[in-house]
Amino acid sequence: MTEIAVYGAGGFGREVNLIVQQLIKKGYPYHFLGFFDDEDKSSELGKLYLGDTEKLNNWNRPISVALAIGNGKIRKKVVERITNPRVEFSKVISPYAIFNDIISIGKGSIICAGANLTTNINVGEFVVVNLNATIGHDCQLGNFSSVMPGANLAGEVKLNECAFVGSGANILNGVEMGKNTTLGAGGVLTKNLDAEKTAVGVPAKIVQK
Ligand SMILES: CC(C)(COP(=O)(O)OP(=O)(O)OC[C@H]1O[C@@H](n2cnc3c(N)ncnc32)[C@H](O)[C@@H]1OP(=O)(O)O)[C@@H](O)C(=O)NCCC(=O)NCCS
Repeated sequence: MTEIAVYGAGGFGREVNLIVQQLIKKGYPYHFLGFFDDEDKSSELGKLYLGDTEKLNNWNRPISVALAIGNGKIRKKVVERITNPRVEFSKVISPYAIFNDIISIGKGSIICAGANLTTNINVGEFVVVNLNATIGHDCQLGNFSSVMPGANLAGEVKLNECAFVGSGANILNGVEMGKNTTLGAGGVLTKNLDAEKTAVGVPAKIVQK
């Protein structure tokens, strides 16, 4: 039996916990302990609030942690602060996600219900593929990248580290998003986006230099 906790007790944390509970119902050998969060959530969560990052860093037995933070840059900072070697970052994959082929998925990544991934896709570490997102053939999702609900990546799309694809956005075939880029909700990205830029609209245009 693996002891598992969710890091992040906000709305996304509750969604990730739902996936964990669904996996447990399906026989996955997890024992759910509760939530870690740097904000004190004890009045809301009672005993299910396990403490902050320091508490996790002092945890004295092996623990699996599902990192439930929607923003990749913040996810990265949190990972850098978790130094306890007893912590293993689990992949949390909804039993209601659709995998059409064998797909590689790195540690700490979360794949939500309705996500649909086709073939020859590489999902890096600490990636979030949120509800009903579609990921086409040969896509590469870099570490800490995020694809929000209902976004669609056509074939051969590349997301570099911490790229963020807003809800309902679309990325055309072969387009690359640089490191720390953002595509706004509903945007259609038709050409490569350089590192650190934010683009919005249809077709997406850069709003931040
Ligand atoms: C793109 C985004 C990151 C910009 O946020 P921001 O830096 O706070 O920027 P602002 O809200 O100040 O907007 C800057 C300009 O872009 C416009 N804009 C912002 N988001 C837009 C979008 N998604 N589509 C079209 N225009 C958008 C604003 O209207 C504003 O225009 P103006 O200067 O003419 O008034 C944000 O609006 C967004 O789309 N985030 C994604 C949210 C999401 O998908 N969350 C997932 C939750 S599960």
